[in-house]
Amino acid sequence: MNLPNMLDAKKRDKNAVIDNYQYKEVKIDESLVGKKFFVRTYGCQMNEHDGEKVKGVLTSQGLIETSVLEEADIIILNTCAIRENAHDKVFGFMGLIKKMKETKPNLLMGICGCMAQEESVVNEIRNKYKYVDFIFGTHNLDNMISVINERVTSGKQNIEVYSVLGNVCEGIPEVRDNKYSAWVDIILGCDKFCTYCIVPYTRGTQRSRKIEDIIEEVKGLQKLGYKEVTLLGQNVNAYGKDLYSDKTLADLLRAVSDTGIERIRFVTSHPWDFTDEMVDAIAECDNVMPYVHLPIQSGSDRILKLMGRKYTVDEYIDLYNKIRSKVKDVSITTDIIVGFPGETEEDFECTLKVVNECKFDGAFTFVFSPRENTPAALLKDDTPLDVKNDRLHKLNEIVNKYSNEANQKMVGNVYKCLVLGKSEKDQSKFMGYTENMKLVNIISDDNVIGKIIDVRIDEAKSFSLNGTHVDE
Ligand code: 5AD
Ligand code: SF4
Repeated sequence: MNLPNMLDAKKRDKNAVIDNYQYKEVKIDESLVGKKFFVRTYGCQMNEHDGEKVKGVLTSQGLIETSVLEEADIIILNTCAIRENAHDKVFGFMGLIKKMKETKPNLLMGICGCMAQEESVVNEIRNKYKYVDFIFGTHNLDNMISVINERVTSGKQNIEVYSVLGNVCEGIPEVRDNKYSAWVDIILGCDKFCTYCIVPYTRGTQRSRKIEDIIEEVKGLQKLGYKEVTLLGQNVNAYGKDLYSDKTLADLLRAVSDTGIERIRFVTSHPWDFTDEMVDAIAECDNVMPYVHLPIQSGSDRILKLMGRKYTVDEYIDLYNKIRSKVKDVSITTDIIVGFPGETEEDFECTLKVVNECKFDGAFTFVFSPRENTPAALLKDDTPLDVKNDRLHKLNEIVNKYSNEANQKMVGNVYKCLVLGKSEKDQSKFMGYTENMKLVNIISDDNVIGKIIDVRIDEAKSFSLNGTHVDE
């Protein structure tokens, strides 16, 4: 048993040596070989990718994945802690599994991911949710089999969560969700400590993978037929800072570009660490896609300061314009939080002003949600929730107007799309992404899955496009 501790999670030791290590296989208890497992993942792309590792480790031990919940012998919830509603979803789902356990007493249920790193959540589960069989955290995913084995042999709830700086485990088995587009971690954790954000506590210190390990992974993916890699990190622009004195994301992008893989993406960017060299690398490497997700969070300098974002609106706009002018046909999306503690109507108007100026291709918008142990959770917050929701609504209307306008401009033109599968809404169509990350539902007579094809855009909506496959 090892419980998370939010104070330990906050510590940063600049002199600590954070060694990479190789995944070590642990055999699963024999009673579980051949059993079926179900994994549900919440949250960001990084967590999606962790979900692929959870599946990979279980599969490597002879368990079989099922997408039918009722068939499962082991259910794992790979959770997110970013906002309260992510919590609510998980606790809701846990209730359902409790019911299933009444008729299936050998069913095992585990929790991992960011919620597993939260002290209050784990204490609550320990005291009130005894039917949860095991919990492991983001720092010991590679050792999940030991955690499960311990639960099986002891017959007791087993919690193994560490609040440590973290290191990098290479070579964890993975079962990837898509055959043509793959996630590749480049930097784990985060050291930025934006005052509203729980991630630096749940995912530990910022630590980069070595360039050669990343390149090896990308080359391996290429051999398997992957056309696209998305380089992942909570703040990819900080890549290398903890590891190299002379290498940054710009060098990494160029090195990945040299592998010749067709498409390279990267998320998420932080304006603070975004250098001119990085903008140049994106602009100059043909296979680095013209798409940047650049969270602004607020359009008010006063609020940005309270958020600890370390840039001003003017600095953000300068960077934004630089990217727009240097990277051909780039699309830029953002994240915005409304209702941060103390946000006045005037602050909110500043956010609307920036959105009107930047005309983002899209934005993910959120109402501020206080998170355990973060400084912003302690700030006085006297804006009523309905006012915050009104602001969100107003913001979304403007955001959607600009996404729609950006999409309308594409109608009638032909774009290269990487087709990833069948369209979710209409199985007779395909779905793919343009180079600048627009989702397109595509009509084609051929099976074009896994191919990069020319698509003429016929119709534009706020969140997607409709198009037809045309001959090159
Ligand atoms: N409340 C609301 N939104 C948040 N985000 C991060 N933390 C919070 C919070 N406490 C948003 C930010 C971030 C995105 C992933 O989630 O906009 O960029
Ligand atoms: Fe959620 Fe953040 Fe954890 Fe991703 S890193 S799963 S967004 S809390």
